[in-house]
Amino acid sequence: MTYLTTWAAEARPRLLEETTDPARIRAVLAGIAVRFERWPLASGLPAGAGTEEILTAYRSRIDELTAAEGFVLVDVAALHPTTAENWREVAAAARERFLAEHTHADDEIRFFAAGSGVFYLHVGSRVQAVRCEAGDLISVPKGTTHWFDMGVDPDFAAVRFFRAPDGWVGAFTGSDIATRIPDFDDLARRAAANAQPGTANAQPATRRPAAAS
Ligand SMILES: [Fe+2]
Repeated sequence: MTYLTTWAAEARPRLLEETTDPARIRAVLAGIAVRFERWPLASGLPAGAGTEEILTAYRSRIDELTAAEGFVLVDVAALHPTTAENWREVAAAARERFLAEHTHADDEIRFFAAGSGVFYLHVGSRVQAVRCEAGDLISVPKGTTHWFDMGVDPDFAAVRFFRAPDGWVGAFTGSDIATRIPDFDDLARRAAANAQPGTANAQPATRRPAAAS
């Protein structure tokens, strides 16, 4: 389930809101010019599907978006846990790449065909952390300060759309804010606890914690 948490970007970040309500997530992200939508999941796509299988499964949607937005390149970035001895190093290196706050000269558009990853969008005095799941499309506007966390055990496949072959190059801000906001695995634990039967957030819901004193 897609999960959005909103944090006050302070020295000790404070949770302002958490929600799994798709309409609320879309509205919050629209408020910072971030496009978010859900595509119906393709049926019959096997776990660990390769690039061509994913692109074929979503061909009509991908072609529609590409024609509308003028993308010149579409590919798939994927990482799934393996039993290889060096998996931890491979995973850590991949995770590290965009784990610090940065911007791009072009929009960053991702469609999650499988797995999950968290985009952190730092706009004004807030950070919106959106854990994207399979079926989620997110577009981070160029120039938006953000980072991405795939967790300690990355497991995802995301279609990437580019207007320029080098549009994904990151310009890092030097901020340490990413170290102060709960990471992918922290948020996964929080979402799992919320989803326990009998808790307030067991169904899609929005909560706004009382302000800290
Ligand atoms: Fe990025």
